[in-house]
Amino acid sequence: MRRSAIAITILFISATAIAQQQRVVENFNRGWKFVLQEDTLKGNVDLPENKWRTVDLPHDWSIEGAFKKDHPATTQGGALPGGIGWYRKSFAVPASMKNRTVSIEFDGIYRNSEVWINDHYLGKRPNGYISFQYDLTPYLSKTSINTILVKVDNSKQPNSRWYTGSGIYRNVRLVSTNTLAVAHWGSFVTATPVNGKLASVSIETRVKNTGDASNRTYVTHVIYDQAGRQVARSGTAAMIIPAGITTSKSLLEITKPVWWSTGNPYLYKLVTTVRRGELVTDRYETSFGIRSFYFDKDRGFFLNGRSMKIQGVCMHHDLGALGAAVNTRAIQRQLEILKAMGCNAIRTAHNPPAPELLELCDRMGFLVMVEAFDMWAKKKNKFDYFSDFEEWHKRDLRDMVLRDRNHPSVFMWSIGNEIREQFDSTGITITKELVDIVKSVDTTRPVTAALSEWDPDKNFMYKSHALDVVGLNYHHEVYEAFQKHYPGEKFLGAENMSALATRGHYEEWRSDSSYLWPAKSPQKYVENGNADHTVSAYDQVAAYWGSTHEQTWKIIKKHPFLSGLFVWTGFDYLGEPTPYPWPARSSYFGIVDLAGFPKDVYYMYQSEWSEKTVLHLLPHWNFEGRSADKPVDVWAYYNHADEVELYLNGRSLGRRSKQGDELHVMWRVPFEAGELKAVSRKDGKIVKEEKIYTAGQPAKIELTADRSVLNADGNDLAFVTVRILDREGHFVPTASTQLEFEVKGEGILAATDNGYQADTTSFSSPTRQCWKGMALAIIRAGQKKGNLTLTVKAAGLTPAIIRLTSTDRAALVLGKF
Ligand code: GAL
Repeated sequence: MRRSAIAITILFISATAIAQQQRVVENFNRGWKFVLQEDTLKGNVDLPENKWRTVDLPHDWSIEGAFKKDHPATTQGGALPGGIGWYRKSFAVPASMKNRTVSIEFDGIYRNSEVWINDHYLGKRPNGYISFQYDLTPYLSKTSINTILVKVDNSKQPNSRWYTGSGIYRNVRLVSTNTLAVAHWGSFVTATPVNGKLASVSIETRVKNTGDASNRTYVTHVIYDQAGRQVARSGTAAMIIPAGITTSKSLLEITKPVWWSTGNPYLYKLVTTVRRGELVTDRYETSFGIRSFYFDKDRGFFLNGRSMKIQGVCMHHDLGALGAAVNTRAIQRQLEILKAMGCNAIRTAHNPPAPELLELCDRMGFLVMVEAFDMWAKKKNKFDYFSDFEEWHKRDLRDMVLRDRNHPSVFMWSIGNEIREQFDSTGITITKELVDIVKSVDTTRPVTAALSEWDPDKNFMYKSHALDVVGLNYHHEVYEAFQKHYPGEKFLGAENMSALATRGHYEEWRSDSSYLWPAKSPQKYVENGNADHTVSAYDQVAAYWGSTHEQTWKIIKKHPFLSGLFVWTGFDYLGEPTPYPWPARSSYFGIVDLAGFPKDVYYMYQSEWSEKTVLHLLPHWNFEGRSADKPVDVWAYYNHADEVELYLNGRSLGRRSKQGDELHVMWRVPFEAGELKAVSRKDGKIVKEEKIYTAGQPAKIELTADRSVLNADGNDLAFVTVRILDREGHFVPTASTQLEFEVKGEGILAATDNGYQADTTSFSSPTRQCWKGMALAIIRAGQKKGNLTLTVKAAGLTPAIIRLTSTDRAALVLGKF
């Protein structure tokens, strides 16, 4: 491929590390050139330089676009644009790189990427979620400038049932090694407890030799604990490593090991050293944890010998207003919010995740079910992966496992979600084939699939008898009879609920009346819903194939053999705005909204799943004008107490305690403006108090940042929550104040949001309306240390200012949890 004569960005690779002859991993994200165009090759060749703009990766061009009803992705795909994008980066390599191997690693490109270096075609990768690398060595010039060119084709749509993003939306690295080094994904550590005092660590290392054969090669391993103390070391026998890849195996032991668990995510570090004679040619680190687990058909799931309910959520990969572009802090924030709810497991619906998600889960203590596909050879959308399945599935599935098999957080592999082949006999053959592929590279984890056909006689994937655990989606009504339908099998709720809610919007449904606001039957798909595309946040509405949150959790909770579940979903995500059409463009399924603000049911889970003392009241108390014959249903979620008493303006409205399997208590209260107070008590002693007020007119803007000090690395983020308060300082839950945001100093306004599913203002807009009293500003740190301020203005209100600092304390982003 020809390239136009253009100015180039030059990147020099650090010479110091190269001089040491070991592995050099360069962040290759900065300073790419990008152009979005439909006219593909031809346009690129002759495109004037000024048509290219500079971007840093990870980059998602879809999120930059405007929401439109008629984008081919449809509202299912988030109503955002696709297209064909080109990325280009030029770089020089120092002469000291002679005789070294250089490769480029992409964590994921959505989708149909093709890559060239210096006019040489390196290859293509249709799958938008898979990680891959290309060896650049033979094509790299050590004397002149090198150019990498990447074409990304996300023009054929719809190709997904959810928002995918477009572009090089994950990280890119340039890796340079000696000719004798650990191969790509070449380290596999299996650490298992032998008994309470001993763990065995089996290590398989694939060493690649592209230089001379050597019989004086040494592969040695040292294991360090979290405090950096050496806890095990391998022998140092010499090996012969001929040209090509040689696998070396070692078995080490750790005495008095600390188990990895969700409560104590303890990590060890393996350092593998490759030497030729005295020369260290590679030093390679693998992080791992020691844990054991099993599923028992009668008693459920056990981690390190202890019974544990899987309290999981499904998550799509987008990061709300930031789109699909990977950002470690944004993922970490999602996980922090879920952790505080008591969630202990994530399902990466329905694709391989970014590596950063798994690194965070290792360190924060989440179990992860990594999923490979949403379809096999039978499509769900006209242009989806089905047409690539035949040619690519073996490679994609194997690569997924090879990349992720060292993570202690990863405890299961799912070979697919609601795959069409479950309904015909091809399901038997393909299931067996895929399970075999996974087991050819990892036998330490069970393989499952998320099955939507619950009837074992009708489900051909189940009939393959190749799945280790039966993962059922929905159909909570058959769970109690699972053991009858699936004798001897192990259960997992692979996907559950699909309950719907808009944060802060309330409409009661009452079986005994139809006099209230637009009544919805529980569990009914809201075809003709509200004009503003809202769904009530009382936990009473769900997709017809699902259930309310309480319905399924009550069942899972009750029976030990039901090992746990994955709620659909932890967060709202872009796309799939069931039950509404345009302008709804993001989902209603989340326990937390798109902006990261919990919906009320978050506290139901927190009261059940976490150790935290919870007392949460809903709805708000601004029902001015509502007549006494239309009382408001007041719910309370609580724990650690025997009862809750409710007071309206000081008058007791009675005590309630959860009866039987109830998960909340309720009062029916004629509205009267003022103070609504709940008090929970145990043995007569006050455990917690919660008050809500009838708020007056908006008077103040309150800003709260999740962190006031950022890392000045150009990536780190501050999430600033905006709340509208009245003169007394009470939250105004009905405010729809129009806000204007401005960031000054060492950072930029990355995005704004409010969590409302039908807001079609672009996420990059510096103006946004509050939704139910709240909004979010996401600030990205610059690369220079310094101060920055966010100013938020609204007509008639005093502007609010928050000051943040950007520093170089890298520990802030990947600190300890
Ligand atoms: C499931 C599907 C998910 C999502 C969900 C919405 O059937 O697996 O991807 O579409 O429905 O309820």
